[in-house]
Amino acid sequence: MKVHIEGSIVFLTGATGGIGKAFIAALFERGAVKVYAAARDAFELPAYPGLVPIKLDVTCDDEVAAAAAIATDVTILINNAGVNHNTSFMRAVDLQFAREEIEVNYLAPLRITRAFAPALIKNGGAVLNVLAMLARVNLPLMGSYCASKAAAFSLTQGLRGELAPAGVRVVAALPGAIDTPMTAGLTILKMTPAEAAAETLDGLEAGEDEIYVGEMARSMAEALAKDAKAVERQLASGQI
Ligand SMILES: NC(=O)c1ccc[n+]([C@@H]2O[C@H](COP(=O)([O-])OP(=O)(O)OC[C@H]3O[C@@H](n4cnc5c(N)ncnc54)[C@H](OP(=O)(O)O)[C@@H]3O)[C@@H](O)[C@H]2O)c1
Repeated sequence: MKVHIEGSIVFLTGATGGIGKAFIAALFERGAVKVYAAARDAFELPAYPGLVPIKLDVTCDDEVAAAAAIATDVTILINNAGVNHNTSFMRAVDLQFAREEIEVNYLAPLRITRAFAPALIKNGGAVLNVLAMLARVNLPLMGSYCASKAAAFSLTQGLRGELAPAGVRVVAALPGAIDTPMTAGLTILKMTPAEAAAETLDGLEAGEDEIYVGEMARSMAEALAKDAKAVERQLASGQI
């Protein structure tokens, strides 16, 4: 089940975000013929021939069903929309932020993949879930975000097993820090959205199940394989 960007028809969520815009540019550079670019505010989208704006709140069943009814020619679904309230479990005033992160980062990719599965099966397609390296280990500074991405990591594994017999590849991207509006308040080393999009699409085309995007993610994955407890303690101390 090789995934080719050239000639593909992509449905991308979170298309107005930092990585979303970089995905659009990189997909067309690599020969995608159509990108359904889904966003809550579709007016913000850049103009490209082949770009089809779709107004979509990923938490809305009806809007997702309507989008799936339009994009029946899709060959690659990229679940990229995400939210990070940058809050710890204890500092949050109530459960609202945690609930929203679960809604957008976990339940929405599940909802969207279910809606698009018939088309992806018919077209022999693929699903790319944009998670985060922090799906693999919790950074308490943003604990509820990490928990939602961990749930989405498990979702990705489950979907991979369930959809493989139907000929659909399911892939996780696990990036480290990227310079987008989501990380505006973080003064750490970040990769550019263009670098992140390029590495992610390289991994998708290379047939990886889990794509560790950027040096930070790759070194953390190595450290986790050697001593997961040491990484947990390091992140608990606030160091990334
Ligand atoms: N930046 C990083 O360092 C980093 C690292 C690892 C993983 N990631 C992941 O990469 C993905 C993209 O993030 P980004 O860095 O590009 O962040 P971003 O610039 O904040 O973009 C997030 C996108 O998600 C959309 N979104 C949020 N809630 C939505 C909803 N209910 N319905 C539809 N769209 C919604 C936002 O749309 P609105 O403008 O309408 O809110 C925005 O387009 C996310 O899944 C994020 O968790 C980011």
